[in-house]
Amino acid sequence: MRSDLKFSENFLWGTATSPTQIEGHIVNEWTDYVASDGGHCRVACDHYHRYEKDVELMAGLGVNAYRMGIEWSRLQAAPFGPLNQSELERYVHLLDLLKAADITPMVVLHHFSNPPWVTSSGGWLNPATIAAFADYAGKLSSALKERVHIWNTFNEPDTYASLTYLLGGFPPFHKWNFLSYQKTIKHMAEAHVRASRAIQKNDFGREPEIGIAKNWTYFGAFQMFALWDHFLAAISHHAFNHFVLNEFLGGARRAASTFLGVNYYGRARLNHFQALVPTNGVSNERLKQLGIISDDMFERHPTGFGELLKHLHRRCRLPIYITEHGAASSDQDFRIRDLTEHLHELRDAVDAGVDVRGFFYWSLLDNFEWQFGYAKKFGLFSVDFSDPGLPRKMTRAGEFYRDICIGSKKTVNQ
Ligand code: BGC
Repeated sequence: MRSDLKFSENFLWGTATSPTQIEGHIVNEWTDYVASDGGHCRVACDHYHRYEKDVELMAGLGVNAYRMGIEWSRLQAAPFGPLNQSELERYVHLLDLLKAADITPMVVLHHFSNPPWVTSSGGWLNPATIAAFADYAGKLSSALKERVHIWNTFNEPDTYASLTYLLGGFPPFHKWNFLSYQKTIKHMAEAHVRASRAIQKNDFGREPEIGIAKNWTYFGAFQMFALWDHFLAAISHHAFNHFVLNEFLGGARRAASTFLGVNYYGRARLNHFQALVPTNGVSNERLKQLGIISDDMFERHPTGFGELLKHLHRRCRLPIYITEHGAASSDQDFRIRDLTEHLHELRDAVDAGVDVRGFFYWSLLDNFEWQFGYAKKFGLFSVDFSDPGLPRKMTRAGEFYRDICIGSKKTVNQ
């Protein structure tokens, strides 16, 4: 392994996924959704039936950690209900396979999906969802306390609340409803605190680790003198970053978290109120003409990564996990370059004193990328969705990441 990319021996090198994006056979608000490429998540990567093989893939990658979701809709058929034992056993089996492969799990409780009974009773706008979620967190953590000690309550509450109530991208597809956005964040922040208390009631035989994963997108103006774009960027920054961090980590609520998860992809610069990013329909060719480097989703901004880590360290004073970083592109050289640049930024931030405990590459597999279906290729393993066998194949970015993970083990064992 390159000596300039060495990290401490306890550093977690992992990969990340989410249930709706890979498992298939889920009944939640995404089941009937058809993405822009015509794809749906009913089978996805069929990880539900193929998880044993997928753990073997992870072992081959040399990762020592895996950030995985447990799908709430599978486990509780009604508020405060008992956990579905056969679904639980399936996850227990998966966790046991991970343990046998020396892979530490981080479990995500909420990743953009809800049980149907939550959706039909108003979702996160309904304050009753808070107590129901805390009940679920308590029951699940009690059932898994021998197997899981790192709990990630919410994945990107900011992305979830903005895509459901501001941008119309996620069910129920509302637009510009700021009050609903705000309410969702406030309810989730309260649910995080209560879930954290419920998790901490268990005896894990060690201190549990509990935190959220915060997406951080930089917003800016493309043209220096475009005052309105600067203004909109400042509002977006406030709503998505500051407001959310304050709700989850401000004041007494900070005690509910032992770490901060950071999902970092890059930035969105505005030009006449339009974000210059592929997710907004701007082509990579056009972006290239403008001098913007992007994957198939966002503008890349590696130096922002280092700055962000230093900023969050000063601001939150919590250990950090990079709970997601990755690039969507079929150009493997691009992905390798992108990963290298970001790992160098991470290395520099650690050298500057930022306490980063692990890095989880998004994602293990090409998967169902929400509104965009199967068009965005994030996998360390590609998946051939045109073949009913859904064969997986390690990509060159996967090989590169494998060398980092295996290299770090060698350094530790030397
Ligand atoms: C989400 C993932 C998503 C990834 C790439 C993150 O915001 O947590 O579910 O696939 O970004 O867009």
